[in-house]
Amino acid sequence: MEGSDGVVLRDVTAGYGRTTVLRGLSARLPRAGVTAVVGPNGSGKSTLLGVLAGTIRPARGTVERPGPERPGLVVQRDAVSDTLPITVRETVAMGRWAARGPWRRLTAHDWSIVASCMAALEVSSLAARRLSTLSGGQRQRVLLAQGLAQQPSLLLLDEPTTGLDADARRHIAAVLDRERARGVTIVHVTHDPDEAGRADHCLLLHEGRLVAQGPPASVLRPAAAAELRAPG
Ligand SMILES: Nc1ncnc2c1ncn2[C@@H]1O[C@H](COP(=O)(O)OP(=O)(O)OP(=O)(O)O)[C@@H](O)[C@H]1O
Ligand SMILES: [Mg+2]
Repeated sequence: MEGSDGVVLRDVTAGYGRTTVLRGLSARLPRAGVTAVVGPNGSGKSTLLGVLAGTIRPARGTVERPGPERPGLVVQRDAVSDTLPITVRETVAMGRWAARGPWRRLTAHDWSIVASCMAALEVSSLAARRLSTLSGGQRQRVLLAQGLAQQPSLLLLDEPTTGLDADARRHIAAVLDRERARGVTIVHVTHDPDEAGRADHCLLLHEGRLVAQGPPASVLRPAAAAELRAPG
């Protein structure tokens, strides 16, 4: 499987209703590797994750994924209502329901996965807390634990470290390294040039078009990096 493609996009055009956002996007993302997606605000990064997740159907083009199961999507933090009356443990357990289908009872095995994912993101002590009572950084770690609990072969992360302190960023980087070593294909949207620089592959979006792709060192040249200068 080494060297084979994790995700292949062919001439994908996609958007919302009559609004076209992504235009003619073709890319290959390495299997069991991290692909960083960079670009200014509004360039289409979250839309691309929606297409990869299957929640946005392309108007044109095709998407190939590494596995048959649903990709794990960790949405941008501000896309999650902070008034949901559910606990941390329930939030992470939703990752298991995503894996099994919502009408199945979770087994002891499922709950052990939930516990280990909470431990990996160091949120076990918050298990009984409501999501709405957490800090932004804590909530972000819970959302990532939910994505891991799904145990997807394709993990899609929308700015998972935005607003986190340096310790939390390092911790998340280590968690992602471990997932990659397990063979998970990871797509990581980030505004952080250092994070993007550590990826295996990099896509640069501008106004819905893919303007560069390849090794981060070449994509993130100073001119390209200027595109990254966006708050967040
Ligand atoms: N639900 C929606 N309906 C209509 N247009 C949308 C919707 N979501 C996003 N857009 C538009 O699509 C374009 C791309 O948005 P997208 O969220 O993909 O950008 P992004 O690169 O993720 O930006 P950011 O860095 O701010 O997260 C923007 O012009 C945005 O206004
Ligand atoms: Mg976004």
